[in-house]
Amino acid sequence: MTYENILIRTEERVGIIEINRPKALNALDAPTMQEIVAALNTYDQDSAIGAIVIHGSDRAFAAGADIRQMAPATPVDMLNMTFIGYWDQLKSIAKPIIAAVSGYALGGGCELAMACDMIVASESAKFGQPEINLGIIPGAGGTQRLTKALGKALAMEVCLGERLLSAEEAAQHGLINRVYPIESYLAEAISLAKKVANQAPVAARIAKAAINASFEMNLADGIEHERMLFYMLFATEDQKAGMQAFLAKEKKPDWKGQ
Ligand code: CAA
Repeated sequence: MTYENILIRTEERVGIIEINRPKALNALDAPTMQEIVAALNTYDQDSAIGAIVIHGSDRAFAAGADIRQMAPATPVDMLNMTFIGYWDQLKSIAKPIIAAVSGYALGGGCELAMACDMIVASESAKFGQPEINLGIIPGAGGTQRLTKALGKALAMEVCLGERLLSAEEAAQHGLINRVYPIESYLAEAISLAKKVANQAPVAARIAKAAINASFEMNLADGIEHERMLFYMLFATEDQKAGMQAFLAKEKKPDWKGQ
């Protein structure tokens, strides 16, 4: 597939997706989201890739869903476009995804970052859900994921009070993982992704799935679910090789993903 609104490249075992609509501050229209999801699926199916990074420009990760595209739409248009459904498709990606955010991560841009598994930001990053200014609310998970990460009080301010969170604040409140100077945030995000990409592949995808499942499950069910996954990993060659290497005081094995 050829892409018009994103650029893709790889570094070692990391697949990298760059959102590339600079004139619209990387606003996410249907073709852009379709391309992001297609690239994610391609990397997910590629055994040479172990983790994925999504980034925008230094000025904007993404300034939201594309307002020009949505402005004239009726509810039925929105339903038929299946536009907002693209954000949900990140759930089906098994490999860990890291958002590298600089500048604006607003509306659907903030929601795209939050749909990833980790967020690394530059000091200039600004996270917000300003949809209220347009007479709508977040539509791709903003009210839910922000509230789970920040708590009700701050989520209310972000969604109702036009509060933008700086990278520092977002890190303090647990919305994001790490903050770096603008010159190095992307390299740091890719470096973290390389580390993740070199873990035992089956264990990495199961760990991601188990952590994400905790948002859907109560504690007792989540712990039971984790235990079954833990037992299941004893069926992998990588578990045998990993434990044998530890006991023999050898370096970590070359993981087979089996
Ligand atoms: N959709 C479409 N175009 C957008 C856009 C968006 N979300 N955000 C910015 N742009 C475009 C602007 O229209 C402008 O294009 P033109 O040059 O052709 O006029 C270009 O990007 C540059 O933007 P500005 O001139 O506004 O740049 P600025 O530096 O003055 O302001 C900004 C930057 C504060 C991010 C401002 O652009 C802004 O407020 N953008 C909208 C943010 C927003 O409301 N996002 C939520 C969208 S709705 C949503 O996402 C729903 C959902 O939950 C899925």
